[in-house]
Amino acid sequence: MAEEIEIRSIRNIVAAVKDTYNFDFGNYATTSFKRRIERAISVFNCKNVDELITKIKADKNFFDSFLKEITVNTTEMFRDPSFWRKLREDVLPIIGSHQNIRIWHAACSSGEEVYSMAILLKEMDLLGRAQITATDINQDVIAAAKKGAYPLRNMELNQSNYERFEGKGKLSDYFSETEGMAYMDTSLIANVTFKPHDLVLGPGFSKFDLILCRNVLIYFNMVLQDHVVELFSNSLFKNSFLAIGSKETIAWCKSIDKFSTFSIEEKIYQKTKE
Ligand SMILES: C[S@@+](CC[C@H](N)C(=O)[O-])C[C@H]1O[C@@H](n2cnc3c(N)ncnc32)[C@H](O)[C@@H]1O
Repeated sequence: MAEEIEIRSIRNIVAAVKDTYNFDFGNYATTSFKRRIERAISVFNCKNVDELITKIKADKNFFDSFLKEITVNTTEMFRDPSFWRKLREDVLPIIGSHQNIRIWHAACSSGEEVYSMAILLKEMDLLGRAQITATDINQDVIAAAKKGAYPLRNMELNQSNYERFEGKGKLSDYFSETEGMAYMDTSLIANVTFKPHDLVLGPGFSKFDLILCRNVLIYFNMVLQDHVVELFSNSLFKNSFLAIGSKETIAWCKSIDKFSTFSIEEKIYQKTKE
């Protein structure tokens, strides 16, 4: 009985969000979504789900904070260093031969992945020809990504990832330090367009040589994974690449026939059929 009420309550929240703001969380993976909702109720001191729904409907600012709470924004620079080495050694030499290198960071969170890519491209002398689009559902993280200011204490892990990636210099070559913050070199994002985009209801908007959507599919159920992978398939040129997170797979998705596995270890797929 308790289980039934919880699921019904979650459906009510999903419906309220859809009706009021046109975001659809109906196909997020239930277990993690339920956990995030429970957390939100506690963080926002709501007595129950009904109070949470009332606040969501009444106050856009509250909804923005709620959105931040239910989406997981954890990220790092050069997360999974071997993945970045694979890009450097095998993927970028292929797409780097194109006149323009078009990259989409889908669900980029606060931008650490975008700066990692820019540093990698710079070290390969490809940054000038790159056209990068970085999107996320959450406007706040997009604003943070654009700003490129990160607490210095986070840079230790980023630096250690960069060392394991075996970059050309030191990560600190790419930022300056002021009052406990690291400010990324703004020239890195000269060719980056940051914009809000919802992978569930948002349109495709261009064609790319490489799409990174790492550590996002894990929060979606199969229906939504299918939808998003189809969106990516339609947004990739033939023979271009899709990278997902280390714990994710597109093996069960309907569009898998269009892809071949480029690196099973690093979860990189190549779109081989239109
Ligand atoms: C765990 S972070 C992944 C960040 C980065 N890709 C990485 O691997 O380090 C997941 C991101 O997905 C975003 N997200 C969740 N649902 C989304 C949706 N429907 N459309 C676009 N972004 C979404 C969240 O806001 C969050 O920033």
